[in-house]
Amino acid sequence: MVKTWSDRFEEGLNPFIESFNASIKFDFLLLEEDLDGSIAHARMLGKSGIISPDEADKLEQGLEKIRIEVANGLYKPEISDEDVHMFVERRLISILGPLGKKLHTGRSRNDQVGTDVRLWLRRRIDHLDIALKKLQVALLAKAETNLFTLIPGYTHLQRAQPLSLAHHLLAYIEMLERDRNRLYDVRKRVNISPLGAAALAGTSIPIDRHFTANQLDFSSIYFNSLDAVSDRDFAVEFTAASSLIMVHLSRLADEIILWASEEFAFVSLTDRCATGSSLMPQKKNPDVPELVRGKTGRVFGNLQALLTMIKGLPLAYNKDFQEDKEAIFDTVSTVTDCINAMKILIEEGLEFNEDNLTLAVNSDFSNATDVADYLVSKNIPFREAYQTVGKVVKMCIKKQILLRDLTIIEWKEINSLIEEDIFDRLLPEKVVASRVSEGGTGFDRVSEQLEKWKSQLISPNQ
Ligand code: ARG
Repeated sequence: MVKTWSDRFEEGLNPFIESFNASIKFDFLLLEEDLDGSIAHARMLGKSGIISPDEADKLEQGLEKIRIEVANGLYKPEISDEDVHMFVERRLISILGPLGKKLHTGRSRNDQVGTDVRLWLRRRIDHLDIALKKLQVALLAKAETNLFTLIPGYTHLQRAQPLSLAHHLLAYIEMLERDRNRLYDVRKRVNISPLGAAALAGTSIPIDRHFTANQLDFSSIYFNSLDAVSDRDFAVEFTAASSLIMVHLSRLADEIILWASEEFAFVSLTDRCATGSSLMPQKKNPDVPELVRGKTGRVFGNLQALLTMIKGLPLAYNKDFQEDKEAIFDTVSTVTDCINAMKILIEEGLEFNEDNLTLAVNSDFSNATDVADYLVSKNIPFREAYQTVGKVVKMCIKKQILLRDLTIIEWKEINSLIEEDIFDRLLPEKVVASRVSEGGTGFDRVSEQLEKWKSQLISPNQ
């Protein structure tokens, strides 16, 4: 096939190099956006008097025809098309003849590809926001039914203090909210139009950049043509925000994997979301959270690839930029799949084992801080109370008993100010209920948070 830039060349491309150079294998994904961008450009050419209004209409009709042809599988891209932009232009010329050759007036593939990628990503960011919100809603539903379910809380993966399970799940809703805010912020910098920067320097053709930006719903335009065609910061920012989403999902995934182990046995995986082993008949594996945890690496890799791709590149466009697409596309599909998989896992993959959870919070020293706080309420300085309780715990461990097994006489020997009400304070549900400081796990506090999230996530205008 004759290349658009072929007059300058005498020989055809080496077939391997042709394929090596081509991005059509992956950038065909940008077809819709390429057509949308081209339609905006064609309208602008017509409205600015660069071509006639009739020519602009015909270009638009030709572009819409390509959209339908591809949707119906009538016209497929080939390696010789090089990239999605050349694919569209070539087909347009074959539909419209010489008029098709006018579309590229005042435009370059450099500003065109930047426009396409931004349009594509802007829409995916909106989809991701919806997916993240659905995951938040799934977590909220689980949290609501588990306000009074207790779960050991850990620091250093050592039992620390018991928690309301709802409080634990709400922590992930908070993380996902920050993720959504970050995407919202990135979107502002995705939503700027490079179209009209042309190859690198702008153009002598009297184009109207604000018109195309408006047509495509961009909030503003790049003010420097060199920056417009060579800025890929938005891709880095998006992949960084996505990396944090994956960090959060991987933490939740890892907790679920731990909880599902026989050692913890806090949760059972349902048949719908777990898989078996081909060898060991007794096994039920947490493949879903393991895959989410594992896929985190791909997204970090994409971030690293983009940063390295941009580093040290001289202005303006360099072919290196063609490499941005696979990193962006893979990030979007990986993150979307992982969010959706986690949502399904939360909704229908987990059964919390309440008996084991109750047993767990009743068989440890995670109420030790509460004895110290009790002594503080009797006016004993905290550090002194802390030392006293430390000794008590040491003694109990030696005797292989728990704090609740001590008699009132023994408590009085420890400190004469201790009364019968100590036994009540030692109960895990009392321990949890007492954490009433703002943001704490006390049931009243958690139920306020549940209400807040319910109105934030489920109210009709959200
Ligand atoms: N396929 C190219 C890319 O993805 C499009 C821009 C090509 N520009 C050029 N001057 N060769 O970056």
